[in-house]
Amino acid sequence: MTSLHTTTVPAADAPVFGAWPEGFLWGSATAAAQIEGAAHEGGKEDSIWDAYARVPGAVANGDTPEVAVDHYHRMPEDVAILKRLGLDSYRFSTSWARVKPGDRAVNEEGLDFYSRLVDELLAAGILPWLTLYHWDLPQALEEKGGWANRDTAYRFRDYAMAVHERLGDRVTHWTTFNEPLCSSLIGYVAGEHAPGRQDPHAGLAAVHHQHLAHGLATRALREAGAEQIGITLNLTNALPNDPNDLVDLEAARRIDALWNRMYLEPILLGAYPVDLLEDVADYGLAELIEPGDLDTIAAPIDFLGVNHYHDDNVSGHPLPAGAEQAAEPTARPKRSPFVGSEHVTMPSRGLPRTAMDWEVNPSGLRTLLVRLGGEYPNLPPLYVTENGAAYDDELSADGAVHDVERTEYIADHIAAVHDAIRDGADVRGYFVWSLLDNFEWAWGYDKRFGIVRVDYETQERTIKDSGLRYAGIVAAAKASG
Ligand code: NOJ
Repeated sequence: MTSLHTTTVPAADAPVFGAWPEGFLWGSATAAAQIEGAAHEGGKEDSIWDAYARVPGAVANGDTPEVAVDHYHRMPEDVAILKRLGLDSYRFSTSWARVKPGDRAVNEEGLDFYSRLVDELLAAGILPWLTLYHWDLPQALEEKGGWANRDTAYRFRDYAMAVHERLGDRVTHWTTFNEPLCSSLIGYVAGEHAPGRQDPHAGLAAVHHQHLAHGLATRALREAGAEQIGITLNLTNALPNDPNDLVDLEAARRIDALWNRMYLEPILLGAYPVDLLEDVADYGLAELIEPGDLDTIAAPIDFLGVNHYHDDNVSGHPLPAGAEQAAEPTARPKRSPFVGSEHVTMPSRGLPRTAMDWEVNPSGLRTLLVRLGGEYPNLPPLYVTENGAAYDDELSADGAVHDVERTEYIADHIAAVHDAIRDGADVRGYFVWSLLDNFEWAWGYDKRFGIVRVDYETQERTIKDSGLRYAGIVAAAKASG
């Protein structure tokens, strides 16, 4: 029933949560390094993830992005799935190492691929939502210092303009960075993502230089006529485990500063938070800021993308014996010297957890979306640019994937978005992560986030029950509008 070639997406059969704002955008998201494969074809050279995956022990099972889900060769089939699901928009990223290897000449063959993708999307009536940086720096630039080198920010602007020059006649929505927290602190401080460095000074330099790159590209894209420009941040509610415990409150404040406000405030307010600058005073962030940088970084944006999967329940105390930690595998606070204590932990609140060990708490998404508008009066419109869940689902004997937990996760989070809008948040769209099972970074292919299953042996795609349900929700929402 559910293989791509036989599935009929059901008509509006899902609960409607009331009307949705006119023009609300329904989509799904992927990223180049996670799906494309063809890592060394068509003029593409190594990104930091190709190089990092070759380091023994860096990625689970020795998995690499070399083949991934072969999207580079199967792109029309994947666009047909988006169309079959009835989605309005597709959020994808361009690979810098495919478009402009290192700081050398533009690779036209790489741009050809994205040009064909954009044409295919437009022909299917799907809005292309393009992200310029989803973590895959060309390795050639890493060898010149990577994001710790200020010059990389200027190279990023050049890359952005090369992509715009080729696609700007058809692409209206531009995102500079996806989750800079991960590509700065996790890549350069925790060392758990490419390039695998463990250097706090380099990590903060990466933060500042990615901010600068965002501002430089935003200005240049604006001058070149791009219509909608924004950035996607992974934002969380950093909750003190015991709201009456000063140690927990302080730990939650530090996590909120590092994970949320360090990214939001330079962009929205033109300044790093004062408490953050004090927390990281020993690691040189303030010294990196040159005159004019903060003005550049605060260039106006048209939207803020919010990626949210789970809240973070933060304690400044060691875990009591026998207590469980709700793991935060991509940003283990203990690996960061900035959190102020040896003992920052994420005690489990006893909620259900996904295969990533992330706690499931849909109302956190509502809280976050509403809170942002309250805290930042100049907040631009919000889009949930990622939300979804990994579960160990399997292909059943009937040929379907009955991924009940993911189906519920998505439906419950969409309901939370609807609640947030009702409560005043200006949310204009929702993108499920991810369209396809794919390369989940340091977890390799172990963790499946797709609403479409990929058989990694045959590359066959099967729409999961969650994909069918999502299509039903979208159809119902449109019918209600
Ligand atoms: C955020 C990242 O943008 C994406 O690449 C990743 O796969 C998902 N979170 C799930 O971890």
